[in-house]
Amino acid sequence: MPKWLKDAVFYEIYPQSFYDTNNDGIGDFEGIIEKLDYIKDLGCNALWINPCYDSPFKDAGYDVRDYKKVAARYGTNEDLYRLFKIAHEKGIHVLLDLVPGHTSEEHEWFKASGKAEKNEYSDRYIWTEFWLGGIAGHPYIGGECDRNGTYMLNFFKCQPALNYGFFNPTEPWQKSYKSPEAKATLEAMKDVMRFWLDRGCDGFRVDMADSLVKDDDKDKSGTCSLWREVREMLDKDYPEAAMVSEWSNPWQSLNSAHFHMDFYLDHGGNGYNTLLRDYETPGGDNSYFKKDADGNIERFLKDFLPKYNETKKSGYISFLTCNHDTPRTTHTLDEAERKLAFATLLTMPGVPFIYYGDEIGMKYIADMPTKEGGYTRTGTRTPMQWTESVNKGFSKADKSKLYLPVEENGPSVESESARKDSLYNTMKELLKLRNSEEDLKADADFAVILGEKDKPFVYKRGDLTIAVNPKETAVSAKLGTDIGTKKTLFVIGEGTLEDGTVKLGAQSFVIFK
Ligand code: NOJ
Repeated sequence: MPKWLKDAVFYEIYPQSFYDTNNDGIGDFEGIIEKLDYIKDLGCNALWINPCYDSPFKDAGYDVRDYKKVAARYGTNEDLYRLFKIAHEKGIHVLLDLVPGHTSEEHEWFKASGKAEKNEYSDRYIWTEFWLGGIAGHPYIGGECDRNGTYMLNFFKCQPALNYGFFNPTEPWQKSYKSPEAKATLEAMKDVMRFWLDRGCDGFRVDMADSLVKDDDKDKSGTCSLWREVREMLDKDYPEAAMVSEWSNPWQSLNSAHFHMDFYLDHGGNGYNTLLRDYETPGGDNSYFKKDADGNIERFLKDFLPKYNETKKSGYISFLTCNHDTPRTTHTLDEAERKLAFATLLTMPGVPFIYYGDEIGMKYIADMPTKEGGYTRTGTRTPMQWTESVNKGFSKADKSKLYLPVEENGPSVESESARKDSLYNTMKELLKLRNSEEDLKADADFAVILGEKDKPFVYKRGDLTIAVNPKETAVSAKLGTDIGTKKTLFVIGEGTLEDGTVKLGAQSFVIFK
């Protein structure tokens, strides 16, 4: 386990929309470098940068054309190496986004793979052996290449699946995940990882990490076995490199695939989803943090506790304020609700991730026209709002050239840092505490003291007691005399813990010591 992870608080950067320094209307590496002090000042000490490689951008860069070359619109490879170096000087670690499951259809490997004559890359992707052949249970494409076959997709049409084999091959064209062909693909991906790790990158967020082996068994044993090989390489040659999976199944990703961290994603109805974005549940949005909804912390705990208890020895579950695929929480929660929600997420065990702009309450623009395959996700990817000046300080380019329109009436770092009790200032204060209290670090003990409907939610982190009440009415509960009387270390709203009784005002969050 990389030593720095237990102290890490990540900041996710969608590079297109972060900060434009060359006035072309799109963010760049220099922009990230210039804002490292801002990120540090907020209390974050690690970055995840969404894919910044050469790409036709049909899926915002998740369609990689060249894994070893950055997209010119962000700068040069040298600029990215410089970003690593300057970030390190400031105590910031940097994860890139690894997209191992597919490439762009414009990747050289794919172009070679589609040729009629056999070559080194013929088996790099999953091809049938006849131009009309289908692929049961999977999307596939024919008619695009000279090769007499059809190929499997991993996501969009522009993203052919790389070949890591099948768990149980049933057709002559299917390779086993243990075959030399699958092994060659894995080696190629390890080579990509080495390339960046050798140049100062600190690890990877791994896209669709569970998607490698096709028709895998229910435990994803084939895919997990491949990731274990990657972890062996890291443990041996890059012991301080960190890997976080887009998987959202910690039993598989942490216990079996040996990732260091796994995202707790917004999957309909899971524990995380019931906290912030319960809008798909029939009967309406009963997110725990909505003050006037019928929220129930038991729904979260029922899902989270077994995941946490059964995987905490292997790695960390990562809570997110949001990511580039999910509507920002401003969509359904107001500022007071978000303060309590983020304070809770940032004091949970594991390594947290803050999505750029969430700290200032950027909006989700629901009706934004799609950009680079974003569709409904586009409204979560608008330019960062830095100041109250032109284009909210994101870029000096003409409005018509901006990557996406700026939300002119929205908040900015300038406005939110000036407002004493803003979400931004609250998060900053809380992160300062998290960074100084060992009991709030990723690996500190966690136990639920009280987790029942209509009661305050009370949990322990090491020797700290944390209590939350998202409702509009005050609550109190007896926790037990052994808990005694404690001092307030951090407070949103109001609350006390005296003689084992916790009392919380409406919409309050308190850390007691
Ligand atoms: C998950 C990424 O987060 C998403 O943005 C992307 O579209 C798909 N994977 C495909 O790579």
